[in-house]
Amino acid sequence: MTTAPASSLHATLPGSYYTDPQVFLREQEHVLESLWMCAVRSADLPRPGAYRTVRIGRESVLVTRNRHGALRAFLNVCRHRGARLCTEESGQVRRNLQCPYHAWTYDLDGKLVAAPNLSKMPDVGRDAYGLRPVALREWLGYAWVCLADDPPSFEDSVIGAATERLGDAAAVERYRVHELTLGRRITYDVAANWKLIVENFMECYHCATIHPELTEVLPEFADGLAAQYFVGHGARFGEEVKGFTVDGSAGFARLSGLAEEQDRRYYAVTVRPTVFLNLVPDHVILHRMYPLSVDRTVVECDWLYAPEVVASGADVSASVELFHRVNAQDFAACERTQPAMSSRAYRDGGVLVPSEHHIGGFHAWVRSLVG
Ligand code: FES
Ligand code: FE
Repeated sequence: MTTAPASSLHATLPGSYYTDPQVFLREQEHVLESLWMCAVRSADLPRPGAYRTVRIGRESVLVTRNRHGALRAFLNVCRHRGARLCTEESGQVRRNLQCPYHAWTYDLDGKLVAAPNLSKMPDVGRDAYGLRPVALREWLGYAWVCLADDPPSFEDSVIGAATERLGDAAAVERYRVHELTLGRRITYDVAANWKLIVENFMECYHCATIHPELTEVLPEFADGLAAQYFVGHGARFGEEVKGFTVDGSAGFARLSGLAEEQDRRYYAVTVRPTVFLNLVPDHVILHRMYPLSVDRTVVECDWLYAPEVVASGADVSASVELFHRVNAQDFAACERTQPAMSSRAYRDGGVLVPSEHHIGGFHAWVRSLVG
């Protein structure tokens, strides 16, 4: 008896995973509201009372700094009758957060400190009716939040992703990302399911077709094998290339602390579910996604440089332009794919060719969480 050879084609998820609001609801519950999510860049909140509100799953989360400067996160919901506490995307309060409805007032640790007639209402406990806290961790200079009652291990699920990809726990630390400064931020509003964006980031089968500038800088990308295909692999710059820039011109000085083997290489890390980390010798690009609906995802992309580069007023546009083009090319591809997900042609999904097989691990992970 002979056994059939294993197929070199693996199935993708069926189209409904990208179009069905019920699937998205389960993802909100079991992925976005259950795992650690990169919410806010810490430096965007420079002082006590600075705040930002972000959408995590179905919730609005308020991230701020208390009077001692420590980051705090709360559900952005007043404990009185549920009004949205902060309606702006970002802002600055002096000492307290006051609800615009009946003026219940919370300090920056979430404690209820004032309300009209509060002294005549002894049942309103100041701690019992404080804002609902959200778990928060700081890593790479970002505040990560988790809405789960019992958050998964940050070390395993977040830091572990970078270690697994780079093959070495120290590799990401050498970039000292938390010390870098924001050189540019671009926000993309993408009409595509968040998983299409993850899958696209994980493979490079498309690189030769849609990324002419990137394959010029990283010639091995033209072969279609993504840096993420091999543990610890960083794509090498082309011989003539001086820096990770749109025209291969020189970038900036290598970040101090990088190992020799990290020079002239591009490393990509997917931190599931919604963060992409791109590491090159002179800067770091961090994408974080906010999935808003089954077919809409906002992506905030930060280009981070050594503080002295930004302070000097150096022109960062040649390096920003490279990945901004890559982003625009990738997101256009995702937007072209999204409407076809509801086609009967894609009812049973498509196929992953060998250079995309590692995406199967992402699909298995999604299935394990949402069923
Ligand atoms: Fe906030 Fe009433 S709902 S004070
Ligand atoms: Fe791409």
